[in-house]
Amino acid sequence: MLPGLSRQKGMRAKATASGVVWRASQQAEKTDRGSAAKEVPVQLCLFAIAFAQARQASAIDLANPQDYLLQNVVLMVVNMSLSNGRHYLAIPGPSVMPDRVLQAMHTAAPNIYHGDLVDMVPGLLTDLKKVARTDAHAAIYICNGHGVWEASLANVVGPGDKVLVPVTGAFGHGWAEMAHKLGAEPITIDFGKRNAIDPTQVAEALRADEAHEIKAVLAVFVDTSTSVRNDIQALRVALNEADHPALLMSDCIASMGCDRFEMDAWGVDVAITGSQKGLMTPPGLGFVFFNDKADRVRGQMERVSGYWDWRPRIDPDIFYQYFCGTAPTHHLYGLRAALDMIGEEGIENIWARHEVLANAIWAAFDAWGEGHDLQLNVEDIDARSRAVTSVRVGTSKATDLRQWCEEKAGVTLGIGLGMAAPEAPEWHHFFRLGHMGHVNAHMVLGALASIQAGMKAVGLPHNSGGLEAATQVIANNAIG
Ligand SMILES: Cc1ncc(COP(=O)(O)O)c(C=O)c1O
Repeated sequence: MLPGLSRQKGMRAKATASGVVWRASQQAEKTDRGSAAKEVPVQLCLFAIAFAQARQASAIDLANPQDYLLQNVVLMVVNMSLSNGRHYLAIPGPSVMPDRVLQAMHTAAPNIYHGDLVDMVPGLLTDLKKVARTDAHAAIYICNGHGVWEASLANVVGPGDKVLVPVTGAFGHGWAEMAHKLGAEPITIDFGKRNAIDPTQVAEALRADEAHEIKAVLAVFVDTSTSVRNDIQALRVALNEADHPALLMSDCIASMGCDRFEMDAWGVDVAITGSQKGLMTPPGLGFVFFNDKADRVRGQMERVSGYWDWRPRIDPDIFYQYFCGTAPTHHLYGLRAALDMIGEEGIENIWARHEVLANAIWAAFDAWGEGHDLQLNVEDIDARSRAVTSVRVGTSKATDLRQWCEEKAGVTLGIGLGMAAPEAPEWHHFFRLGHMGHVNAHMVLGALASIQAGMKAVGLPHNSGGLEAATQVIANNAIG
């Protein structure tokens, strides 16, 4: 019934309504060029082409169950993907953007001299401060997280100044490196990749600094690479107990709008974050919150770079000084929508939502890991981020799992950042799941179910019961 399986390229002209021939010949060409291992094997493509030819020649009768089955097989080969549908970018930032944010950005270019954009900015600053839980100052920068690291340091730390950096992952090292590049002298205390900062060690280092040369303590609240969450309030206690005047600066890039953070109540002098995670807005805006103590330190600086200087940004004579130039117009509309959503849900409720979703994720991995090497990177529950979870799978299957989830299920998981050198076999032992911002129960459960399917498909050893455990957490906590 089927014509011979001769290799025939260039069949696009003959494409039928179903598109089968075209897709199959494309697949065959790609596979022929050896372009990607994931492509469909050439024999199957040729089979699909032959089937489509037979159909064109009316040699296929779909009323015949065998032919009908054959057609479904062909569709599976050339056309069918279980990842079609709305994709879930479950990496720890940039995070999922709400439609409301995207729609708010879909607008004509606004006037930057007067009108709604100009009127909108003071309200953005007020609402940002509510998210950071501070009555102090907020400055907006056009930059990513690296930019806001530099923005914060440039105002209070100069060449030769010492900064103490307790580190719990790649981003702690990154902030220390940024200080070093600005000419400062970072003193790092490395707490490894699985444990939180020990405040007593920080207090000891501060007490040892009798001359008070350390100008600031730079602490990453949640290190996104390890998913370790640090006790920032305990660092304030350490500073006070050591009677040390250094500023307490906190990187909240992966945590603001996800994990409880109380800038004023915890005694944080400078807090920084970006738009692209809990704030649900595309990457490109950085925020520095600082109090009067930090501003006094800023006032003693010999020189502050014109662009990073926070002073004109909080008290501009004219509108363009808010951004040291042209405003990031569309990002601001997106941010307005995101802050409205945060205000409507309430920051306490947002923290609670992240808490429950994180608990569901941990329950799944605890169940899957029983009797296997699969485990959460952070054992201590208090030291776990509520926005990102770093997982150790105990075998080199993590990369296969990520690929499977993306290609077969439409969920992109995060790479295991900073856990091993990219060329080392252990690099493939880690992945991360982002659950920050615009994320709800069905997204998390869908991601977990995809992970379970993926583990089965790629042969990653695990126990059953993960989904059962996660759904129980959701069922128990779906109050309100
Ligand atoms: C905690 C933390 N700090 C800093 C950064 C750097 O941000 P960016 O990549 O936007 O420069 C990131 C990025 O993921 C982060 O998670």
